[in-house]
Amino acid sequence: MPTTDRVARDLAELRAAIRHHEERYYVLHDPEISDTEFDQLLHRLTALEADHPELVTPDSPTQRVAGRPVDGFDTVQHDVPMLSLDNAYDEAELTAFDERVRKGLELEADAPIAYVAELKIDGLSIALHYRDGLLRRGVTRGDGVRGEEVTSNVRAIRSIPLGLKVAVPGDIEVRGEIFLPRASFDRMNVARLEAGDSPFANPRNAAAGTMRTLDPALVERRGLGAYLYQLVESVVEVVAEAPVAEPATPTVEVGHTVHDHQLEARPGHAAVLEQLTAWGLPVDRHWRRCRGIDEAIDYCRTWADERRALPFGTDGVVIKVDRLADRLRLGQTAKFPRWAMAFKFPAEQATTRLLQIEVNVGRTGAVTPYAVLEPVQLAGTTVRMATLHNAEDVARKDVRVGDVVLVEKGGDIIPKVVKPILGRRPTGDDEPAPFVMPTTCPACDTTLDRGDDEVVWRCPNHQCPAKVRRGLEHFAGRRAMNIEGLGESLINQLVDRRLVGDAADLYGLTAETLAGLERMGAKSADNLTAEIGASKGRGFARVLFGLGVRHVGEGAADLLAGRFGGLPGLLAASVEEMEAIDGVGPIVAESVRRYLDDAANRRLLDRLEAAGVVMEVDRDGPVDAPAQTLAGHTFVITGTLTTMSREAAKRAIEARGGKVTGSVSAKTRGLVVGEDPGSKLAKAEALGVPILDEAAFGKLIGSL
Ligand code: IVH
Repeated sequence: MPTTDRVARDLAELRAAIRHHEERYYVLHDPEISDTEFDQLLHRLTALEADHPELVTPDSPTQRVAGRPVDGFDTVQHDVPMLSLDNAYDEAELTAFDERVRKGLELEADAPIAYVAELKIDGLSIALHYRDGLLRRGVTRGDGVRGEEVTSNVRAIRSIPLGLKVAVPGDIEVRGEIFLPRASFDRMNVARLEAGDSPFANPRNAAAGTMRTLDPALVERRGLGAYLYQLVESVVEVVAEAPVAEPATPTVEVGHTVHDHQLEARPGHAAVLEQLTAWGLPVDRHWRRCRGIDEAIDYCRTWADERRALPFGTDGVVIKVDRLADRLRLGQTAKFPRWAMAFKFPAEQATTRLLQIEVNVGRTGAVTPYAVLEPVQLAGTTVRMATLHNAEDVARKDVRVGDVVLVEKGGDIIPKVVKPILGRRPTGDDEPAPFVMPTTCPACDTTLDRGDDEVVWRCPNHQCPAKVRRGLEHFAGRRAMNIEGLGESLINQLVDRRLVGDAADLYGLTAETLAGLERMGAKSADNLTAEIGASKGRGFARVLFGLGVRHVGEGAADLLAGRFGGLPGLLAASVEEMEAIDGVGPIVAESVRRYLDDAANRRLLDRLEAAGVVMEVDRDGPVDAPAQTLAGHTFVITGTLTTMSREAAKRAIEARGGKVTGSVSAKTRGLVVGEDPGSKLAKAEALGVPILDEAAFGKLIGSL
């Protein structure tokens, strides 16, 4: 075979393998290979394509995020408007829907209709256009008539194939939902909190916000998912009609007595979903074809509970008439199809007594009220606290301490107080007084401030102990300076005893001072000072992130440090120069400039530098990076380790290039065993995987 042919064949095989594993991971949530193995496949493909650029195809997995961020999105018109759905909030409304469908189709009362019930994915709708099997364009719903062309972002979503498994000729349009899986959502909110930004209230807002960004690389990092559920009608007839005998025109005759023809008749929506799946498009596999509305209602009942175990958010069930011919016959109103209905899960609510309204001071000084509740069971968890948003909201709802309140856990993660039950409010002398928002900081008594059009009150005091505590927790955090052993309770003691007032003070702590604290022996004090010392060499990106500059997350800190090389370069940079970096916007740039122009912040930076904290980017990796002795090897840890935490053991392995996974396989390089090991030990023994006790592990990582 000529060389080019062989390379082309290798490329095709690699691409097919990568797509297969993307599907296993992102669509079926059931990977067959490790992340490292997947990355290796992608690297091989990238390398081979670099040698043969003429053989790169637009649907190659390397072409997902290509080029720079876009300038903006074009508005485009949908060929067929994207409708919305009518909502039902209880079972009676579903039965009424069934009756309307039956009437519209002129069916007899007892003829069961075939429905397809699907989970209603909590995300934003998207229309995808494929031409000859290749993804050509992705458009948001917009106002239903016109949407935004977000193709570059859609390509960055790994569950969406750039090319269909079957090169379906011509143009097809498929529609569905883009969403943020719970795990990605949680990860993203942690990062936002660390950057001093307010978290997204629910995955839908987060997904919509992500799709609006102009940087596809960011979309890829956020880990959006997609599920498709519709082949646009004009196309359905052509595609779905072909393989079946039944004509696509309505076959239901007026006054016809129908028994089960609805259940067997094709083409139907169920067949479309199977078709989409066969093309390699992501389809949520929980859909069910139901015989009659009662089965569909049953499906709603089941998922009202079971949805909690799903890796993505769902706010209801969509019930759709299966038979496409019947859909055409039923038609639509201006807004909704008459053949579908969204059943909304009830928000889970409970009543309980409001014991106290307390206020919390965040790292950025935001002072916000929250409710302390008599513990109550809600959506499978015990709720003790709920958000009250802000003082204005408390006043508007007239929530008072002592009230019985209605709390709700809806699409949002944190439960909220909906309203007081006024009929149960104590009266007379016991009538509770309205809530008064404190005018001073509960931690330092400084008068609170509020920006002109802001609702949030803030403590302006740089030395406020609550802000200092939160700031230190952030600075010592795993993703910033990573000072192991310096957690909340120790920080509280250090601040309370006025041993530490800011991050620079940490570097003046001695083992003797630390040994005097609660639950601190001489050995732990030594370890902690060593950890604090080691953190000096983490590099400028982590310092910058650790400082907690508003709006500066890990990503922005990396970009800024990388571009300007260290503190001197950043100090000299203008807002425009910062903004010129892909991924750094005006809000971040201005916030950094403001931070650097503040005299107190400059003193802190000087003191950190004087303490020996490295203020340069280390271009060759971490200053104290150990030799990569475990590169390519995977380990599993089981049982309780006595000489170090599991997290520390994991980091020690990773710092040496190794990987830690949760389950033992024949490929595992070693099982690190602490006290009370679990079943993994027996499995490792059976597979002949080397067993490492703590001493052997210590030797391996070179600490003994
Ligand atoms: S069918 C003609 N099926 O819910 C309308 N929609 O509240 C076709 N949604 O705009 C929509 N999951 O964005 C359908 N399995 C599902 C869905 C679903 C989520 C969204 C969709 C729609 C909105 C209506």
